[in-house]
Amino acid sequence: MTKGSPQSGIRNRQYSAALPLKTVFVGHVDHGKSTLIGRILHDTDSLPEGKIELVKKACEAEGMEFEFAFVLDALLEEQSQNITIDTTEIRFKTPRRQYIIIDAPGHKEFLKNMITGASRADAAVLVIAANEGVREQSRRHAYLLGLLGIKQVIVVVNKMDLADFSQETFGQIESEYRKFLKELGFDARVFVPASAKNGENIAKSSAKMKWHKGPTVLEALDLLEPQSADVDLPLRFCVQDVYRFDERRIIAGRIETGQLKVGDELVFSPANKTSKVHSIEEWGRNGGKDAIAGDSVGITLTEQIFVERGYVGSHQTETPIEANRIHADVFWIVREPMRSGQLYDLRLATQEVKCEIVSIDQVMDSATLQTSTDQRDRLERNEVGRLTIQTRSPLVIDNHERIPNLGRFVIVDDGHICGGGTIFGGVYTDRTVAKSKNIFWVEGKITAEARAARTGHRGAVVWFTGLSGAGKSTIAQALERELFGRGMHTYVLDGDNIRHGLNSNLGFSPEDRVENIRRVSEVAKLMADSGVVAITAFISPYRMDRRRAREIALEGNAEFVEVFVDAPLEVCEARDPKSLYKKARAGEIRQFTGIDAPYEPPEDAEIVVRTDRQTVNESVAVILEGLLPRLSPEQTDE
Ligand code: ADX
Repeated sequence: MTKGSPQSGIRNRQYSAALPLKTVFVGHVDHGKSTLIGRILHDTDSLPEGKIELVKKACEAEGMEFEFAFVLDALLEEQSQNITIDTTEIRFKTPRRQYIIIDAPGHKEFLKNMITGASRADAAVLVIAANEGVREQSRRHAYLLGLLGIKQVIVVVNKMDLADFSQETFGQIESEYRKFLKELGFDARVFVPASAKNGENIAKSSAKMKWHKGPTVLEALDLLEPQSADVDLPLRFCVQDVYRFDERRIIAGRIETGQLKVGDELVFSPANKTSKVHSIEEWGRNGGKDAIAGDSVGITLTEQIFVERGYVGSHQTETPIEANRIHADVFWIVREPMRSGQLYDLRLATQEVKCEIVSIDQVMDSATLQTSTDQRDRLERNEVGRLTIQTRSPLVIDNHERIPNLGRFVIVDDGHICGGGTIFGGVYTDRTVAKSKNIFWVEGKITAEARAARTGHRGAVVWFTGLSGAGKSTIAQALERELFGRGMHTYVLDGDNIRHGLNSNLGFSPEDRVENIRRVSEVAKLMADSGVVAITAFISPYRMDRRRAREIALEGNAEFVEVFVDAPLEVCEARDPKSLYKKARAGEIRQFTGIDAPYEPPEDAEIVVRTDRQTVNESVAVILEGLLPRLSPEQTDE
């Protein structure tokens, strides 16, 4: 790769101009993609001397007809023996510029190539055979390109010789595919009718298709422009490894985008510790003063902060997003569907974390573009799901449209790539402004938002009230099981466990009940503050005490939800699970709520369940419905 002068401070523009244009060639099997590449290499004089002759001879010996595709095969074969050459890259040159072809042998390999980031293409050439027309795979490939953010597309309608060079056939394919590409938001520059085999409209205009007024394939390529160069984007230095030499630590990684120089202050996410670049030790050459996108470098820092593989270095003014819940479009490519609730590995640059689907918000068929928002718990092969994904540990990301390199990932199951995705909707925070407005961020002080970002839900106090025997404990336990099953952090504070410990010095006099509830209110608030959904199950007979519980919770900015577990006294008394009503009626227990002590039913509880009419499951369902939206981390207090 050509490098700018190390002294020049601003070298982006110069640098991008010298860059070769990266193109990816895609097409349905047998639509002639390899032949097209072989033909381009031949017509641009890019093949090693004598290559064609060699392949021709080999064909003769085998009694086969010569094909340009064989030339490509031979070339790739040779490259793969030579480990110094990146096997995915084939170069050719037109008078205008250099090109790199990123070959994409199949659907799956293509996705892998694209997503590992080694091969971000500026443009794509889609190959369709004139005698076969637009196939499902032609549509899927186009969709995938769109997903990966490649907007410039040239469509080559190949094998025109097999369609009698018919303008009508070409016109039909063009109008059908153009419509599809438009729906995907593509700027489909040109459609070129061609025959790669015969060299029609590849490097030279075809005499057999005089009706075609547009450019040849090479002319069409020359009309393209490189996409905004990685070097112009904000810095993302993805750490691969940290090497320790005595006191020194060399942080090795790849500069995905942007540039860094000695003296720069870097923020390393996810820990968000900062330190200055002390030196740049580029492998293979003497340390430089700066490095740019595409470089693999080792750097040393002035202050030895903790950094490990997966960390991302950036500049203070343009930091990435840190999240453990992301919105993404995921394209699933394997037969075994992606299921919600199952754990997968998510790989993004050098990061790898465990993740699972929280919800499938929309599903689209990549060939028909038909979408559905029906409730789904799995994503089938060739479907694109708009998903909410929860990761076990924080992920450093960017929105794909801003920095593609940090905005795309692959989903891996058992070591195999099963799908790829792009991230959207993450919210950036300006780290130079102290106050964080963003739920994704972990700022110096650990905020409720930061805790919610980690657990996927807000802390809350769910306050049950009701007569003894109404079902508070039973429903509280059942609710907790439900929340726990959703991966939430919960805990039940229940009259029986608290009165044995924290409140063992309290009885049932009005003063003691007030104190009982006051202490529980404070404990519940602390728990909610720590991010837990604290469920309290106490009779809490006095309205005023419950109001105070609410105020205490709200002081701590926790969500407070009062749940009235309602059942008529007769029902509770008939249930009498601990035979306490019987004892109270017999006068063995004094000041028993409902018998000789008052119960003030709530007037404005957020949720009411009637346990004399509803089953436990029904009550839990009612509570979940009212509660879950309030626990969503997206809900802010501002
Ligand atoms: S509260 O009134 O102070 O909120 P709390 O919920 O902690 O009461 O405890 C109620 C539980 O204590 C009842 O479910 C019952 O098992 C037991 N209990 C024992 N004596 C009484 C009483 N006099 N009144 C109510 N509950 C009692």
